[in-house]
Amino acid sequence: MTLDFLGKLQRTHYCGDLRATDAGATVVLMGWVNRRRDHGNLIFLDLRDRTGLAQIVLDKENAPEAHAKAEAARPEYVVAVKGTVRRRAAGLENPNMPTGEIEIVAAELLLLNDAKTPPFSPAEDSIANEEVRLKYRYLDLRRPQMQKNFALRHRVAQAIRGYLSDQGFLEIETPFMTRSTPEGARDYLVPSRVHGGEFYALPQSPQIFKQILMISGFDKYFQIARCFRDEDLRADRQPEFTQIDLEMTFPSQETIFHTVEGFLTSAFRTAGIELLAPFIQMTYDQAIAKYGIDKPDMRLPAMVDLTVDLTPELRETLKIAPELPVLGFVIPSVGALSGTQRRALADEIRSSFGDCGLDFLDVARLRTNEAFHPLAEAIGAKLTAEQIVFGAGPFTTEDLAIVITPKPGTPSSWNYDPQWIWKRVGALRLQLGQKFAEKHGRYTQTGTAADFKFLWVTDFPMYEWDEETKVWNAAHHPFTSPHEDDILAGRLTNDKGAVRALAYDIVLNGTELGSGSIRIHRKDVQAEIFRSLGMSDEEAKERFGFFLDALEYGTPPHGGIALGLDRIVMILAGATSLREVIAFPKTAKAIDLMVDAPSHVSDQQLRDLSLKIVTRS
Ligand code: AMO
Repeated sequence: MTLDFLGKLQRTHYCGDLRATDAGATVVLMGWVNRRRDHGNLIFLDLRDRTGLAQIVLDKENAPEAHAKAEAARPEYVVAVKGTVRRRAAGLENPNMPTGEIEIVAAELLLLNDAKTPPFSPAEDSIANEEVRLKYRYLDLRRPQMQKNFALRHRVAQAIRGYLSDQGFLEIETPFMTRSTPEGARDYLVPSRVHGGEFYALPQSPQIFKQILMISGFDKYFQIARCFRDEDLRADRQPEFTQIDLEMTFPSQETIFHTVEGFLTSAFRTAGIELLAPFIQMTYDQAIAKYGIDKPDMRLPAMVDLTVDLTPELRETLKIAPELPVLGFVIPSVGALSGTQRRALADEIRSSFGDCGLDFLDVARLRTNEAFHPLAEAIGAKLTAEQIVFGAGPFTTEDLAIVITPKPGTPSSWNYDPQWIWKRVGALRLQLGQKFAEKHGRYTQTGTAADFKFLWVTDFPMYEWDEETKVWNAAHHPFTSPHEDDILAGRLTNDKGAVRALAYDIVLNGTELGSGSIRIHRKDVQAEIFRSLGMSDEEAKERFGFFLDALEYGTPPHGGIALGLDRIVMILAGATSLREVIAFPKTAKAIDLMVDAPSHVSDQQLRDLSLKIVTRS
């Protein structure tokens, strides 16, 4: 087959833009053959470009040459077509296609390139094997859903950039080749050729640079910044990802919240969603008490604390240890469960608790049991009242209500984490929320603001106890300012567990979208925080000496935040993995299957970099 050259043909339209109002127009379209149907004298080609599909008709009688070429065309061939738009005959319209009212009667067809039979067809809606998708990413990205995701990503990034620029933020780039930044993951390192044996680190975030930009007087900075973290990957974590990173001088928390709510409102507007700001705020302690987690998913009702609703007699009857908290929650609209289903559910709950000292009561079962009737009523009333507060509607028999009852005895975890019961129950709430997702339907997107439950979580603890290494770590990062009261009360040394940070997260539907804080701007406080994290003055000087120096030259109070752009787009696109919204992502094993990276390098390259490979035992 001889391929054609384009000659003087110029594209006049995109496939997906044509409508019935274009009938009669002569158009030139270019794109890929999505599907081909051969009816003998008539051949239909669905032509695809980034805007969508258009149906091309090739009639052997009217355009024999074009028809002959269409006989040779196969899926994914690249073609140009010149023809006339016409309305489809009555009854032949395709309501599922935006261009379904029209077709293009071809006068001329050029075969610009052929294509091997692809390992999967970009015309398919879903492709089960993700490895094949990633290896042939160029074919995968041709799929309309992927094209849509990246157009959305572009619009979101543009809207955010525009909003922040209008608010007086300057976009300033910071280096990729730098020193280690303390965000809690491992660094990706870049060996230096010039300084054999020395390494740059790729930034886990622009944290220190943006603070230095505040010291430099830029007042308001932002960057759509690439960050690199060598950490265990999950659906919402990639080794390279993009942050909307910002920092401001003299801010209050509220100023930062307002800025973020502003740019998110602009971003969501580009997807046709009008958000309601300001977003709800709750403290970390409230989030744990209500949801058992620091990133509450508010699409389901909160947990309720039934501790005070249980009379001593009821505790006695139910063998619930005195003083221990009793928590409950509802998964709405689960419907009636059979005896077998309930038993399977009980096994699932008990196995998720392991032997951590928790058990549970299923309120529906209690209701049918006269002996426990008063408790069922008490719990039902409490859940109903709480749910109304949280806007979930009254509790009904269709709902599953679970009450968690701690067994007597204090589990060892109690000693270092007094909130562990809340966290375990919160985790179960999410587990059952997932299990019954289809029943309650609250994770299904309807394309309105109601799908997106934003909130701010504030007053995070400053320190986190690591039970394995028996040390206190910074819960956010070590540049976060503690509450002044906690510094003044000497808690940094006496009672680390009680120190609150001026740190906040923005959460959407149970995903942490972003984190930030008001920073430490005084050298003495910064040095004290390093010390309180077990870092000697020498070590602090070695790692962050340049920064401690900078703090001594008139550092203004400042603060900021960074949001994961990939995560915003993922949720807005209704996707469940970042790989759907990052053009060339890595697998869970941090491999780029298309380019096959990471890869070995030549001995010469290693010599240049003064490196030698040793096998890890
Ligand atoms: P933090 O480490 O919480 O804060 O990161 C901020 C946001 O970045 C996103 N994110 C990720 N997205 C995809 N893959 C990853 N591996 C990944 N890691 C983080 C999340 C997260 O909420 N410098 C501070 C911010 C500040 O204090 O201003 C920081 O980086 O959406």
